[in-house]
Amino acid sequence: MKFSRIVGTGSYLPEKVLSNEELSKSVDTSDEWIRERTGIRQRHIVADGQYTSDLALNASLQALDAAGIHADDLDLIVLATSTPDVVFPSTASILQEKLNVRGCGAFDVQAVCAGFAYALSVADQFIKAGTCQNVLVIGAETFSRILDWTDRTTCVLFGDGAGAVVLTGGDKAGLHSTHIHADGRFQDLLHVPTGVSKQYNEMFKAQTAVQMNGQKVFKWAVREMSALAIKTLEENGLNADDVDWMVPHQANFRIIEAVASKVGVPMERVVVTVQDHGNTSAASVPLALDTAVRDGRVQPGDKILLEAFGGGFTWGSALITM
Ligand code: UT7
Repeated sequence: MKFSRIVGTGSYLPEKVLSNEELSKSVDTSDEWIRERTGIRQRHIVADGQYTSDLALNASLQALDAAGIHADDLDLIVLATSTPDVVFPSTASILQEKLNVRGCGAFDVQAVCAGFAYALSVADQFIKAGTCQNVLVIGAETFSRILDWTDRTTCVLFGDGAGAVVLTGGDKAGLHSTHIHADGRFQDLLHVPTGVSKQYNEMFKAQTAVQMNGQKVFKWAVREMSALAIKTLEENGLNADDVDWMVPHQANFRIIEAVASKVGVPMERVVVTVQDHGNTSAASVPLALDTAVRDGRVQPGDKILLEAFGGGFTWGSALITM
């Protein structure tokens, strides 16, 4: 049996930082409200002419460098995003061109904030099946481009960024299990009402930005992420004490705390980066993972529990040995 293992991580945040203070000059909010309700202190915003594929490229180059793998040796690129550069081709194809490689498969996965869990799960299947040896998995977003910057209930929460990992096949288990779920009944609670097909309908024309029922999403996120995290541990015959680090989706510090408490992992073993970049959707889990790898918290051999929740609703998890 072949297993996949993470052999390199990388991440990238755009240069421009937008602090809560700065944001409160243009929208009716305050640093105090944002910090108390979400834990967010600032977010990063892409520059004009900088796209999701550019953020993905920076994160990917770091991950490939850390893995010691050349882009030519990739068999597949799977990129999770809800903010692709263009309608088509896929941002994964654009990234492939920017990496200056040819021929390997490249496609996008769309599962909003759970996108990285989905992409990791897909990549894992290709490696386990023996179809691919080296797979680049990325979560990259430019959510600043789909926000209504006058809507304080959403614009304070999100930011731009990218995270990437290189997965390689081998005999030693790295990814023990991945789990993905969706429930399409709740799409109206967190969505962008327009798109390619719907934009031609007059009724939806003005609704081009993220809309969210924050309180309902909050409750579902806590409930489903904690239930799935517990199930993931059970399926692997483990309990919370066996987890070295929990790396959750970085949407809101209160959600992270509530899930950790339900699962039984103390906050000292939870990676929290939401304060530095807000909710970067599909990028948030690989960004947090890379941060903890680079600052030395996550060490080879550590057991990591990843989890995420997003629009759709979609949610997912993975249990990993680094
Ligand atoms: O990635 C997955 C997707 N996202 C999430 O997981 C986010 C889930 N939801 C949340 O994180 C939280 O629900 C929010 C951070 C969005 C909101 O926090 P909350 O504690 O649920 O606040 P609330 O919506 O109950 O609003 C409380 C008050 C309201 O005023 P009133 O009605 O009490 O007078 C809001 O109008 O806060 C007001 N408010 C704000 N005030 C200042 C809402 N947004 C803001 C704001 N600044 N930015």
